[in-house]
Amino acid sequence: MHTPRVFVTRSIPEAGLNMVLEACNADVWPEELPPPRDILIERIRGTEGVLCLVTDTIDAHVMDAAGAQLKVISNYAVGFDNIDIGAATERGILVGNTPGALTETTADFTFALLMAASRRIGEGIDYIRNGKWNTFKPMVLLGQDIHHKTLGIVGMGRIGIEVAKRAKGFDMEVIYHDYRMRKERGESAGAVLCKTLDELYSKADFITLHIPLSPETHHLINAEALAKMKRTAILVNASRGSVVDSNALYTALSTKQIAYAALDVTEPEPLPPNHQLMRLPNCLIVPHMGSATVTARSRMAVMAAENLLAGVRGQVPEYLVNPEVTPHRR
Ligand code: DGY
Repeated sequence: MHTPRVFVTRSIPEAGLNMVLEACNADVWPEELPPPRDILIERIRGTEGVLCLVTDTIDAHVMDAAGAQLKVISNYAVGFDNIDIGAATERGILVGNTPGALTETTADFTFALLMAASRRIGEGIDYIRNGKWNTFKPMVLLGQDIHHKTLGIVGMGRIGIEVAKRAKGFDMEVIYHDYRMRKERGESAGAVLCKTLDELYSKADFITLHIPLSPETHHLINAEALAKMKRTAILVNASRGSVVDSNALYTALSTKQIAYAALDVTEPEPLPPNHQLMRLPNCLIVPHMGSATVTARSRMAVMAAENLLAGVRGQVPEYLVNPEVTPHRR
C-alpha cells in the first residue's frame, strides 16, 4: 500500500499527530521555533501533504518548491492568512483549516481579556509583585464596569456570535458590524447591527475584533478609526495582529485617546520585549493563546490530521478553505 510522505511543521497534540504518524511517512519538525524558510522548502520537497501552523508562510514559491505531487496543505488553525489561497487553488492544491474547534474557547478568552483590561487585573498582579500592597486603598486601580455597558463586535462570524452570547450574561447591550451584513446572525444572538463601523466606534464602550486578516482588514484599526472611539473605550483583539496598526494604537493609548487595549495577537508577532506597546500600563498583551486549552488544541490537531489524510488519499477534506479548487493532483 502507498504510504504518503508528509511534512508536519511542528509537534502538535498526540490525538492528531498519532493519526498522521500511523498513516504516513511523516517528517515532524522537532523544534519549538518554526522551520526557517530554506529548511521548510527543503523538507516540503517531494511531499504529498503539509500540516502547518499560522507561523509558517506557505506561498507560491514554497508550493512550487514542494513539487507537482503536493496535494494538500492542512493548517492547524481556523485562520489561513499564512497561506496564499489563490496560488494553492491555481495549482489544484486543497487547503484545510479547523473551524469550530476553537470557537467557544476563543470567545471565552475574549471575555477574559475584556475583563482583565476593564478591571486592570494585570496591573493588580504587578502591583502586588512590586510590593505596593500595604493597605486597602479607595482610589487605586479603579477600573470600568462591564455590566450594562455597550459591546461592539466587529465581525459576526462563529466567534463573534459566541462573544455576543457571553455579553448577554453580563447584561451588556451588544452592537455589531459585519462586512457581510449578516443581520439574522446577530439578531439571533440579541445583537443590533450598525450599518457603519463609525457608528459602532462612536457607541461602543468595548470594541472586540473577530474578522480574518485580508487586504481589506489590514490596519482596519488605524489612527482614524481610533480617533472615532470613545476616550473610555477598551479595544480587544483576539483575531490577527495586523488588523490593528501598532503605531497608531501606541499613540492612541499613550495620549489616552482610548483607555485600554487587550491584545492576544500583535503586529509584529511575536512582539519584541522592548516594543513600545510593552511599556504602556494600559496595554495588556498575551502571546496568541486564544485557543490554548487542552481540549481545543486536541480538537484542532484531530481536524488538521483528518484534513491532511483526506487530501493525501485523494479525497476532499471536510473543512476545505478553497472549495473552488479542482484537485487535479489526485
Ligand atoms: C487560529 O486558529 O486561527 C488561531 O489564531 C490559532 O489558534
